[in-house]
Amino acid sequence: MQNADERNGINSGEGPARHEPPLGRVLSVRGSQAKVEFPAVSAFDLEEARVTVGKFVGITAGQSLLVGVVTDVALTTEVVEAGASFAAAAHLDIVGEIVDHDKPSARFRRGVTTYPAISDTAKPIGSRELGLVFDIAESDVLTVGTLHQDGTTGAFVSSNDMLNKHFAVLGSTGVGKSSAVALMLHELLRARQDLRIFMLDAHNEYGHCFGERAQVLSPRNLKLPFWMFNFEEIVDVFFGGRPGLQEEVDILAEVIPLAKAAYAQYRGPGERALVKRMEIKSGGSAVDNPVPYRIADLLAQLDARMGKLENRASRMVYHRLITRIETICNDQRYAFMFDNANVGGDTMAEVFSEIFRLPPRGVPMTVMQLAGFPSEVVDAVVSVLCRLAFDFALWSDGAAPLLVVCEEAHRYVAADRNSGFGPTRRSISRIAKEGRKYGVFLGVVTQRPAELDPTILSQCSTLFALRMTNDRDQAILRSAVSDAAANLLAFLPSLATGECLAFGEGVALPMRLRFRQLEPHQIPRSEMARGSGIDVENGLGHEFVTAVLDRWRGLSKQDGDPIPLAPRIAPEQPAAPAPAPARANLGLDPERFKLLKKSPAERP
Ligand SMILES: Nc1ncnc2c1ncn2[C@@H]1O[C@H](COP(=O)(O)OP(=O)(O)O)[C@@H](O)[C@H]1O
Ligand SMILES: [Mg+2]
Repeated sequence: MQNADERNGINSGEGPARHEPPLGRVLSVRGSQAKVEFPAVSAFDLEEARVTVGKFVGITAGQSLLVGVVTDVALTTEVVEAGASFAAAAHLDIVGEIVDHDKPSARFRRGVTTYPAISDTAKPIGSRELGLVFDIAESDVLTVGTLHQDGTTGAFVSSNDMLNKHFAVLGSTGVGKSSAVALMLHELLRARQDLRIFMLDAHNEYGHCFGERAQVLSPRNLKLPFWMFNFEEIVDVFFGGRPGLQEEVDILAEVIPLAKAAYAQYRGPGERALVKRMEIKSGGSAVDNPVPYRIADLLAQLDARMGKLENRASRMVYHRLITRIETICNDQRYAFMFDNANVGGDTMAEVFSEIFRLPPRGVPMTVMQLAGFPSEVVDAVVSVLCRLAFDFALWSDGAAPLLVVCEEAHRYVAADRNSGFGPTRRSISRIAKEGRKYGVFLGVVTQRPAELDPTILSQCSTLFALRMTNDRDQAILRSAVSDAAANLLAFLPSLATGECLAFGEGVALPMRLRFRQLEPHQIPRSEMARGSGIDVENGLGHEFVTAVLDRWRGLSKQDGDPIPLAPRIAPEQPAAPAPAPARANLGLDPERFKLLKKSPAERP
């Protein structure tokens, strides 16, 4: 175990002080709050001696040094002592004490057992004491930056506590959330050899951030066979993200189990037994079991049933359903689900190992880029993936810890229970509620805490709050943190980019910290943000527009482009360039697309 002083490169012995810090005195005590008087003038001379809100002040009380946070300061004209005409008075919240503070065995203890007395001496506390206060006594700590109070003291987060009880990163757009997430995931990858990370990257921002440590999946290279979708999810796909028509849904519920049974017949006794077993286990309802079937069998069943019908209206229902399924299966944007989905039989193990890095083989992380999926199907895909992550952990008794990070979490688990796709909400909520038992942890990221389901936020025991100006968002946070920490929240609207308030289990005390600067290549940025520098006059002509439309409509498939881009798609990450389209010379350089792919909200 490292101790805080070594990590900070601070010598435990106190060197000769450059300046004597100004000494103050306790004027009054009330509960765990104290009022302390300082000589006003000298207090403004020295940077480290400035007593202001958010700073820590120590009060010597016997063998202990009580540690308090300044909640307000003001000049006072109360003349306490002849000659001291002006003094500054500060209110402190006492948060804990450093026991044996002038001995090498000094350690910080949360909570107050000794109370200050009138006239006890007070002084601003230095790096050594801050190091003790924010130290985390465990081996797998993450060093995420430095304390606001002292740029030389590291800000540490306990990886165990942060993971086991989930965490959330909150803050308005552009304040450094994604960068903070990238930084913390780098630290987690370093500190936790046993952990795998699965990142739901809503804006295709993280593809380049983790180098060799992460595989990047997108519709181009993901294989997620349609039969791994459960009934609700596949209905959502077939009906393009809208609720299905009841009569068609009822037919599907009857026919899918038949298609599964038919497939098992071809595959021989092994899979027949599997289907049988699954049927028995699920009490006969085979619609939800992740066992393979073929779309051809499904269509054949529908066709056969339709053939037996006399009534024209009933035939129409079947006809519509068949057309619907055929349209989706032939849509190139859905190739990740339907292409070769049955070649090789039950590929679930391979698909699973690939997506969730089992075994990791040196690549413990998956960045799942969601911006390239048809927008109607993103919810279903997220639902399937989160459900698989949880179920695998459940059935493996948590043998392989997995962190699921969800950007834009308010989209999937909205506070408004009627918005979003129910199964997605359920898969993510299940991880939030029960994941810790099975080693599946959740990290949620959102710029709209007020729109995130409060039960998800209440499951997150470590919160990183970056700048936030919206009142509703601030109110949500206020209700989520302890009263003692609530004083810090006054700083929320004024935090700098890359600064945050950290609360909860993962940190020793609520703290204000500045995240470490990332290397430029590690900063998450969606490639669409780099679209400047286009020659607008010559580069964006008629041919350019036609080529974009071709991609949009999915016509560029025959040009060798595996998945044509959907309207809200962001381009792929540079590491896996698309095969050169036949129209390459039209200036369809991926850089150019960036301009088009900005959503209106993101445009300057
Ligand atoms: N820790 C950091 N290191 C380097 N740059 C940062 C850091 N935090 C924020 N930035 C800068 O701020 C910009 C916005 O940050 P970003 O993480 O994308 O914010 P958000 O996800 O909240 O919208 C980044 O593009 C980057 O230039
Ligand atoms: Mg972001």
